[in-house]
Amino acid sequence: MSHAIAQQAAHDLGAASWIREMFEQGRRLKAEFGADQVFDFSLGNPNATPPAAFFDALQAVAAERAAPLHRYMPNAGFDEARAAVARFLSGQYRTEIEPSAVILTSGAAGGMNVALRAICNPGDEVIVLAPYFPEYRFYAQQAGGQMVLVQTDAEFQPDLPAIEAALTERTRAIIVNSPNNPSGAVYTEEKCRALGALLARHDRPERPLYLLCDDPYRRIIYDLAWCPTPVPHYARTVIISSYSKDVSIAGERLGYIAVPPRVPERTLLLGALTMLNRTLGFVNAAAFMQRVITRCADALCDVSFYRQNRDLLCGALQEYGYALTMPQGALYAFPKTPIADDVAFVEALLRHRVLAVPGRGFGRPGHIRLSFCTDRHTLEGGLPGLKAALEDVRR
Ligand SMILES: Cc1ncc(COP(=O)(O)O)c(C=O)c1O
Repeated sequence: MSHAIAQQAAHDLGAASWIREMFEQGRRLKAEFGADQVFDFSLGNPNATPPAAFFDALQAVAAERAAPLHRYMPNAGFDEARAAVARFLSGQYRTEIEPSAVILTSGAAGGMNVALRAICNPGDEVIVLAPYFPEYRFYAQQAGGQMVLVQTDAEFQPDLPAIEAALTERTRAIIVNSPNNPSGAVYTEEKCRALGALLARHDRPERPLYLLCDDPYRRIIYDLAWCPTPVPHYARTVIISSYSKDVSIAGERLGYIAVPPRVPERTLLLGALTMLNRTLGFVNAAAFMQRVITRCADALCDVSFYRQNRDLLCGALQEYGYALTMPQGALYAFPKTPIADDVAFVEALLRHRVLAVPGRGFGRPGHIRLSFCTDRHTLEGGLPGLKAALEDVRR
């Protein structure tokens, strides 16, 4: 690694290697066998068609010829965009969210970085529930904090005694992601309530403890009418999300942070979040997309597209004999591997030109993540390989 690259970045490049590794393997296999003979379940790139309301809004906004709309703006975003997102969120969370409490960000990823920077002092601990979205480690580090992993239970639900045991004097935040990447678990209402109560018992004015709800999959749910949330059950909560998954516009980078009214120091916090959105280099979320979303803040892609993919993939996995907790949301299945070594099983899958990510990349060995935001050719074409690899290792 070149000495021009900072040590931490060079180290992180190595640590984040599983999905990249699969990408490289995929390229190699595609060159050898042809792209249509490689079945890539490794990437979480939403592929539903964005809803008609989004395309209508795009056209309407493109037709507006007003120069000021393309200039700098307040760092938290256009007032109308914040108001539209606040209205939408108030319904989504059944909690009043004010326009002034919404900050538009460069995706949930930008929002998470801004939020963690706003609350973490150097050396603070950030609890993350495994299996987890691997970028959290880097977001926490970039904020001067340190990730502390706590395993969820066998159904990937929060293990409250384990969370309580992990709380220390240095704990500043816990990140909760439900529906979860990679497990597809949706945390139950009972767990959300109990988590809120647990955090309230440990929260102190002199040592505030934040709950960061990273919710980009909140509306991608399959078996429930509404996704339970800890937001109403704990005061010091910050919501971070985006339109990447549910409107299927991940490349457009539009997300938001929302601070509910019960957060004690919300004025100070909102000021810090706005300042950091600017100084981390985002300046403001992309103007064009803000104006688009102002017109369709509650637009939603066709979730039944993903439900069909989930049913097809998970039905087949269960039929073949994989041990699987049915994903209730998000875009991933996370079955157990039939042998303990998940990397060895990923290699067995590669021999059938199926790409999956080992669970250890998400802090949970002994599993694989299979994304079902794929096209039908990949899904259907990959099933025989998933079956054959299982038979190979059982032989
Ligand atoms: C759990 C989770 N959080 C955050 C993100 C980042 O999403 P965005 O595109 O909104 O930055 C992702 C993307 O895959 C994710 O899975």
